[in-house]
Amino acid sequence: MRKLIAGMKVSIDGKMEGPEGTADWVEDWSDGYGVMAQVDACLLGGGMYPGYEQYWTAIQQDPNTPVWITGNPPTPAEHEYARFVARTPHYVLSSTLTSALWPKTSFVRTLEDVAALKRQPGKDIYLIGGARITASLIDAGLVDELRLIVYPLVAGVGKALFATTERRRGLELLKVEQLQGGRVGLVYGIA
Ligand SMILES: NC(=O)c1ccc[n+]([C@@H]2O[C@H](COP(=O)([O-])OP(=O)(O)OC[C@H]3O[C@@H](n4cnc5c(N)ncnc54)[C@H](OP(=O)(O)O)[C@@H]3O)[C@@H](O)[C@H]2O)c1
Repeated sequence: MRKLIAGMKVSIDGKMEGPEGTADWVEDWSDGYGVMAQVDACLLGGGMYPGYEQYWTAIQQDPNTPVWITGNPPTPAEHEYARFVARTPHYVLSSTLTSALWPKTSFVRTLEDVAALKRQPGKDIYLIGGARITASLIDAGLVDELRLIVYPLVAGVGKALFATTERRRGLELLKVEQLQGGRVGLVYGIA
């Protein structure tokens, strides 16, 4: 069965975005987790899809213009990720969204649809976020691996990655990596 691999950039107090609705401490929204080579599909929540589509469409259309979350021109790694999103099917878990700009985007409606996606033949699937879908799919036992990049920051007010989680769950630490800028990469297996 294909693995579902979640990635998230968090502060040390577990926030995945600040009070303005973005993680403004993140300077680059490219892969960062080393996941692109092992996946051939992406899954994301209805909450983040419209902003995600807007962000990467802007980079595809004008590779040098500053983008709205970072306020900086896209990095070379973001250019590479923009090419990855153009060629990779995206599945959006939503009961309300019905249309997308990208021809390779389609919608899934239930957790059973996500389980069915994992049973299809193919490479692994990248769960991009946001927080509610990630927490909910971990709760449902559908996520196989969680890759975190932890920033050296106490974000304070903001939205926690696991704000909606009710169930206690132990994880298996698979990898620790010291990254530039005081960040730490952590990979956990989820049984
Ligand atoms: N720090 C990071 O690395 C990072 C990464 C990604 C995203 N983000 C941030 O995450 C934010 C969006 O996250 P979010 O938590 O608001 O939304 P989300 O997780 O992207 O989407 C939640 C939506 O997914 C749909 N959904 C359907 N079934 C669901 C289920 N069983 N469980 C959960 N969701 C289900 C619902 O949409 P319907 O109402 O349409 O049914 C729900 O409103 C963005 O602002 C983005 O900036 C941060």
